[in-house]
Amino acid sequence: DKPVTLTRLAEMRAAGEKIAMLTCYDASFATLLERAGVDVLLVGDSLGNVVQGQKSTLPVTMAHMVYHTECVARGARRAFVVTDLPFASYQESPQQALRNAAALMAAGAQMVKLEGGQVMAETVRFLVERGIPVCGHIGLTPQAVHQLGGYRVQGRSEEDARRLLEDALALEEAGATLLVIEMAPRTLGAEISAKLSRTATIGIGAGPECHGQVLVLHDMLGIYPGRKARFVKNFLTGRDSVEEAVRAYVREVKEGTFPAPEHCY
Ligand code: KIV
Ligand code: NA
Repeated sequence: DKPVTLTRLAEMRAAGEKIAMLTCYDASFATLLERAGVDVLLVGDSLGNVVQGQKSTLPVTMAHMVYHTECVARGARRAFVVTDLPFASYQESPQQALRNAAALMAAGAQMVKLEGGQVMAETVRFLVERGIPVCGHIGLTPQAVHQLGGYRVQGRSEEDARRLLEDALALEEAGATLLVIEMAPRTLGAEISAKLSRTATIGIGAGPECHGQVLVLHDMLGIYPGRKARFVKNFLTGRDSVEEAVRAYVREVKEGTFPAPEHCY
């Protein structure tokens, strides 16, 4: 199969083909996930929770993200690799963001992801204009968990919903190719997806109308011991292998049957 590129992601969005994304932190899973049909591998800073056993993503460092990106990049041939800029590695200035994004790209990332809306638009534009593709992340942004007062659904009030839509439009205008929307009402995920013209939305608890879906690998395999969010589905239940579970995830994302109503807000 041909490698997934930025061009291919744009074609998928235009053709209405759902983008299947999962988090990935090592080489063996990278090879397995892409063999099972996953389009995009996210080296997420959720590795702080699921690999390191931390209570949040806040302690994750650039060194950790570089190491796991190198591991994933060695295992991936076809899938597109996106890496999270960790907490406080990009908020200081566009220059700081570029320096750290460059280290992740050198480690094998093909795109970087950062959290935040309008406030990060200038930084997104700075990276994109210098050749670094960007994925935004709005809604529940785990690096801001203490500011948000916990892991809660975002965009419930009319005012908050309007702000999230404006965040999405600002990130698209700044050149973000992908946009993760985490824990938002299904109707808002649908509205944002419809109002953007180029950026592809990737939902995690934001409904099936998004242009793609993402889950944390350990959640969709049911091996994370922590609390399970409403949007999580264990795809290993009733199946014999990890690869079959991942194939089922890809199939349900492509068909638009995951997420189902019970996974939505
Ligand atoms: O770090 C991560 O796993 C993420 C996804 C939940 C989108 O940012
Ligand atoms: Na993340």
